[in-house]
Amino acid sequence: MPHDLNHLDAALAAYPRVTLLEGPTPIQKLTRLSQLPELNGCNVYVKRDDLTGLGGGGNKLRKLEFLLGQALAENADTLVTWGGFQSNHARLTAAVAARHGLACELILTPSAVRTDNDFCHNGNVLLDDLFGASVHRLARGVTADAYAAELVTKLRELGKKPFVMPLGGSSPRGALGYAACAAEILHQADALDLRFERIIVPNGSAGTHSGLLAGMTLARSATQITGYSVLADEQQALATTLEKTRQTLHLLDPAAALVESAINVDGSHRGDAYGAPTEAMLEAVRLLASKEGLLTDPVYGGKAFAGLLAAIRRGEFPQGSNLLFVMTGGLPGLFAYRSAFV
Ligand SMILES: Cc1ncc(COP(=O)(O)O)c(C=O)c1O
Repeated sequence: MPHDLNHLDAALAAYPRVTLLEGPTPIQKLTRLSQLPELNGCNVYVKRDDLTGLGGGGNKLRKLEFLLGQALAENADTLVTWGGFQSNHARLTAAVAARHGLACELILTPSAVRTDNDFCHNGNVLLDDLFGASVHRLARGVTADAYAAELVTKLRELGKKPFVMPLGGSSPRGALGYAACAAEILHQADALDLRFERIIVPNGSAGTHSGLLAGMTLARSATQITGYSVLADEQQALATTLEKTRQTLHLLDPAAALVESAINVDGSHRGDAYGAPTEAMLEAVRLLASKEGLLTDPVYGGKAFAGLLAAIRRGEFPQGSNLLFVMTGGLPGLFAYRSAFV
């Protein structure tokens, strides 16, 4: 059955949204990489969501289009969110707040696996400061959501109107940004006269994967999606993705049904922990950089691309398959992980 974009486009139009992207991000074929014999004749394409203009770019801007829409509709004057020290979501929230004249409070938690100087002070942390955010660095053991609840109470007492966004901006409203991306991909695939058998994404807080899947489901597209989990283990990431996809789909159309078997989560490239480098990630980042001049980050895209390479090398996709890898940005992370690459 051909996909149907009218329903999805109309459902998305019902939610307030602030434009943060310059327009559709390009889809490009990785010509040199696709010619490598080990790629078994697969055509690897990339969706360049790293090329979004504001604040260094990345996938979080799509979620922030809907989150900021909601925040402004509620007359908020302060954006509050949290994540790890090297959170790209925190960095882009700070950039969006700067662009829209809002205050920004970032609650950052230390990493279990990295404590070096670059990790603690370079990359996204440096940029948070440049964007003028107030940064709260938590000590180990303090939970971010409990700290956020106290902070919000204090801000309200001061007469502020805080708008709180969860980890990764992955509320169902935020995930709508990736349902919109699903529509964009289908429009582009039609224009390119291409059919993608599989879309590959990193899965962290699961909003990117869930939004794409909700969008593809509503559009009745046959394109499958695989999310490589980099944060939670496979079972937990699967459960979270199922729940978030259901919630996002419900926002789009309460009558729409989700086929549970459509949720594809692969935890085999997470490594020892969230943010812990793996050999396969290092190889994938270097391969994309040296063969295509493209940069992926060590925490998300690098691990997901490593997963895609491994699946292709195992022969999981027939020759001639069109595979679309979503480049989600996170370039500042490379500078925070310098010591992993030397
Ligand atoms: C660069 C990058 N890629 C991918 C992801 C994963 O997206 P999500 O949290 O929506 O699963 C994130 C954020 O977590 C990210 O910062």
